Amino acid sequence: MPSNAIQAAVAALQNNEIVAMPTETVYGLAGNAYSEVAVQKIFALKNRPHYNPLIVHIKSAGYLQQVAKNIPAMAMQLADAFWPGPLTLVLEKQDHIPDIVTGGKNTVGVRVPGHPVALELLEALDFPLAAPSANPFGSISPTTAKHVVDYFTGTLDIILDGGSCDKGIESTIIGFENGVPILYRQGSTKVEDIEKITGALQMRVHANNESVMAPGMLSKHYAPNTTTILTDNVIAEIEKHFGKRIGVLQLKPTTLPDFISAIETLSQSGDLEDAAKNLYAAMHRLDHQNLDLIIAQKMPAHGMGLAINDKLERAATS
Ligand code: TXA
Ligand code: MG
Repeated sequence: MPSNAIQAAVAALQNNEIVAMPTETVYGLAGNAYSEVAVQKIFALKNRPHYNPLIVHIKSAGYLQQVAKNIPAMAMQLADAFWPGPLTLVLEKQDHIPDIVTGGKNTVGVRVPGHPVALELLEALDFPLAAPSANPFGSISPTTAKHVVDYFTGTLDIILDGGSCDKGIESTIIGFENGVPILYRQGSTKVEDIEKITGALQMRVHANNESVMAPGMLSKHYAPNTTTILTDNVIAEIEKHFGKRIGVLQLKPTTLPDFISAIETLSQSGDLEDAAKNLYAAMHRLDHQNLDLIIAQKMPAHGMGLAINDKLERAATS
């Protein structure tokens, strides 16, 4: 990343402008988390409902006290174990965090991103960055700068290109209710790894209304425009839709009928971390091919397979 690109982004952020920045999970639309003016611009750009709070990005765990208070000891343990990295902690907010950032809640979502460009920006600034994923509300998250360009050309001036995101799906979100850790969103930090610290995690069930704790839990989210079906049996599903223009999203190479119009294979070896990294780019490509239908294969239900299935369920039409 040329230093003049970083400098221009820093100047824009200091001026309450919005910048697209790479993180290790997905690209974010970043603005000064302490500025209502900047945060308002993020909501407007994304067309995001105001009840849906933003994640605040800080440069290191040492800055956590500046945005959160009454932090449970277990949250500090999680921060030490996983930051910088794809884990967001929902904690009681400091009073100076604007209500618009937190959707009026008294909690704030915080993380330290594990991407050198995001950290370089944060190092150069004396405020944290509020940053939701850089996509219009409800659509597929961006994992390359090109995805962001496709969504926001003409409405966003600075898009920092940090390459393809390493992890490929959003951060895992953990909150605390009466001191008990709760899983709010599956993501790039594996639940099994978090449970080594927290013990067995409770999870909030899927919801489909405005009262949800984390709208990443909304049952329709991350959705392609093309009708999408999630299945354990891709071949059986293909037979039901014979004659349609079908795209298949599968974990590893299989033999498929010749008439399939598009095939996206997430990992040559069936590796679930690879698959997570490639998931959204594959969904973007399939969604741009005028298909009648996307048939997506359910992943094995362990490790990153759980988080991928969660995203695919929200992408699926039925
Ligand atoms: O990986 C990520 O987390 C990416 C990158 C850019 O950091 N960001 C991201 O942001 O996924 P977004 O806005 O697309 O998703 C943030 C999720 C939303 O579901 C939101 O409701 C939840 O975090 N969230 C934020 N603050 C919260 C809070 N105080 N309580 C409950 N949920 C919260
Ligand atoms: Mg998002």
